[in-house]
Amino acid sequence: MYKILEKKEIAMRNTWYKIHAPHVARKVQPGQFVIVRAFKNGERIPLTPVMWDREEGWIVLIVFTRGKTTARMAAELREGDEILNIAGPLGNPVEMKKFGKILAIGAYTGIVEVYPIAKAWQELGNDVTTLHVTFEPMVVLKGEMENAVGRHILETVQIDMTKSFPENMKNVTKRLTEKVRELLEKEHFDLVFMVGPSGDQRAVFEVVKEFGVPMKADLHPIMVDGTGMCGACRVTVGGEVKFACIDGPEFDAYKVDWDVLISRSGYYTDMEMMAMQEYMKVLQGGGQ
Ligand SMILES: Cc1cc2nc3c(=O)[nH]c(=O)nc-3n(C[C@H](O)[C@H](O)[C@H](O)COP(=O)(O)OP(=O)(O)OC[C@H]3O[C@@H](n4cnc5c(N)ncnc54)[C@H](O)[C@@H]3O)c2cc1C
Ligand code: FES
Repeated sequence: MYKILEKKEIAMRNTWYKIHAPHVARKVQPGQFVIVRAFKNGERIPLTPVMWDREEGWIVLIVFTRGKTTARMAAELREGDEILNIAGPLGNPVEMKKFGKILAIGAYTGIVEVYPIAKAWQELGNDVTTLHVTFEPMVVLKGEMENAVGRHILETVQIDMTKSFPENMKNVTKRLTEKVRELLEKEHFDLVFMVGPSGDQRAVFEVVKEFGVPMKADLHPIMVDGTGMCGACRVTVGGEVKFACIDGPEFDAYKVDWDVLISRSGYYTDMEMMAMQEYMKVLQGGGQ
């Protein structure tokens, strides 16, 4: 069992959990993740240690409230509660070497996964610029990023309440691709790295490809066990089937089959919506 030492909402739909998990804290490297099961009858979801203390034995997870599980975590977990399972560290650490000048991009809560990687790359002697594009009330880790890397660029998009959420998300994609284009036109980068929704990763990749800059992307397919046993996280990279949980989650963006990744990510959308709607009734006191 893993005790929640600290829990706070740090931005709209973004919750910070500091958790006692010594076996993860001892070994985790930037780029790795954990699989969390927070409730007895709950599902397993992949999340990323953002910060850790090897001696004190804690990790920090920052979780975007997306569907039923993350909404239940935000609504029901309290400081002092214990999380049932945290498996990890899982996946491969990112490559730690001197690439030179790096542009590390995080869309929405993806920036929390960029943080440990960008910080370590900077500490290794790379010149790291981070770019965070998100909705205005969802800004996280601004100060931490500014302290960790050479330059942190924050681009915020206002939420237009007269428009649907997917319409608003298109504005984030637009700002993201425009800003990346502007940066690549002005400056030379040796590597672009990105974490965010697959559609945005592909949109950014299309821009980066025009400039011929190497790009890596942290992929987010659906995961179940996170240890290579089920294939739920399979992705096609360079024409071969790979399991993101053991072969990734970081891959060469030029080799990823983005169409397959994006279509597989939407496979459970109807069931996810139903689970969320049922849970909304519980939250509103209507029972299940
Ligand atoms: C390697 C990795 C690291 C991640 N790290 C973080 C993090 O640090 N912070 C954070 O907020 N989110 C992170 N995510 C995304 C997070 O796992 C999903 O947002 C979460 O599973 C959604 O669960 P839900 O039930 O609330 O939403 P729903 O949309 O209802 O999800 C239902 C199911 O779909 C799967 N699923 C849905 N969306 C995703 C997705 N984008 N990625 C993976 N599985 C998904 C889940 O496994 C879950 O079983 C990470 C994903 C991966 C693959
Ligand atoms: S999540 Fe099952 S093989 Fe990767």
